[in-house]
Amino acid sequence: ESYDMGGHDTYMHKEIHEQAEAVDRVLRGRIDDRFATVHLGGINLDTREARAVRRVKILGCGTSYHAGMIGAQMIEELARIPADAEPASEFRYRNAVVDPDTLYIAVSQSGETYDVLAAVQELKRKGARVLGVVNVVGSAIAREADGGIYVHAGPEVCVVSTKCFTNTCVAFALLALHLGRIRDLSVRDGKRIIEGLRRLPAQISEILKQEEEIKKLAESYADARSMLFIGRVRGYPVAREASLKLKEVSYIHAEAYPASELKHGPLALIEPALPTVAIVPDDDLLEKNRAAMEEIRARSGRIIAVAHQKQEKADRTIVVPKNEDELDPILMGIPLQLFAYYTALTLGRDIDKPRNLAKSVTVE
Ligand code: AGP
Repeated sequence: ESYDMGGHDTYMHKEIHEQAEAVDRVLRGRIDDRFATVHLGGINLDTREARAVRRVKILGCGTSYHAGMIGAQMIEELARIPADAEPASEFRYRNAVVDPDTLYIAVSQSGETYDVLAAVQELKRKGARVLGVVNVVGSAIAREADGGIYVHAGPEVCVVSTKCFTNTCVAFALLALHLGRIRDLSVRDGKRIIEGLRRLPAQISEILKQEEEIKKLAESYADARSMLFIGRVRGYPVAREASLKLKEVSYIHAEAYPASELKHGPLALIEPALPTVAIVPDDDLLEKNRAAMEEIRARSGRIIAVAHQKQEKADRTIVVPKNEDELDPILMGIPLQLFAYYTALTLGRDIDKPRNLAKSVTVE
């Protein structure tokens, strides 16, 4: 690919910095202030059909799967429809029960990932309704699906996905709001979410202003052999995605765990040589997250917190702006994209083309 680098040294750096603009694009023309909802013209579901949905199953791979995990939580929270995400690569091999009342959603940046496409084809063969949440217009998955939402992140060249992840999460917030507003989500909550969505671009720019500090932080942790990422509920998919970013681009081993599961095993790993990154949103689980950090501290573990306010239990806190609780996961991973980027830069990695990886996996 030969898109203009626009003065950046790598596409990853360029794409991280394009996120405010990209989020603006996914929102553009879709918000309906009058009815506190959104218009998603391409989903091809009328109100009656959308209300008949009993479950939502989201399928994707890698980063798209993680965006789907965030999407599933948003749909459960805002629309109160049971929803979950599963790697498409697993789903297609387990002869899953295909349920006519379930809405299936295939997520893919490229729209060409073979495991996702094969899952969509199997679902269609069994009569399921499948939506695509896709970046590349006219791609195979977009064509195969019954309808969908384009995420309008623009071309993403770096193998490691950043801006498309963010835009996919925003697209899911739009879908969750739409499904919520034809069910039980109040006008007031609809407005609250719309206002939150509108704040995202400026808040992303605010996070990116911390680049210098995050660079220094990454340099000081780049000698780690391994890192642990933890989060609870809304924070857990953020931890998963941040851990994937770090391993893909820096080749440092990273593992993500629900903070609630620490005492069921991973605490045994804690020592000064294993730093932890903790996702600590200012929500109803704040105290629980603080307790988890305390456990790590008591075992001499070093902690970087990504939080809405300085965390006393952490060695370092990256403070991110607060949005609505449901939308916070969209923002909390962004500083960790920079963290992964600068770790890789410090280690001299091939940032745009990490070893052994391809931008889209179009084969078995
Ligand atoms: C992203 O950083 C990864 N390179 C990878 O996990 C990717 O998300 C996955 O292969 C799915 O690709 P897709 O979104 O194009 O379907």
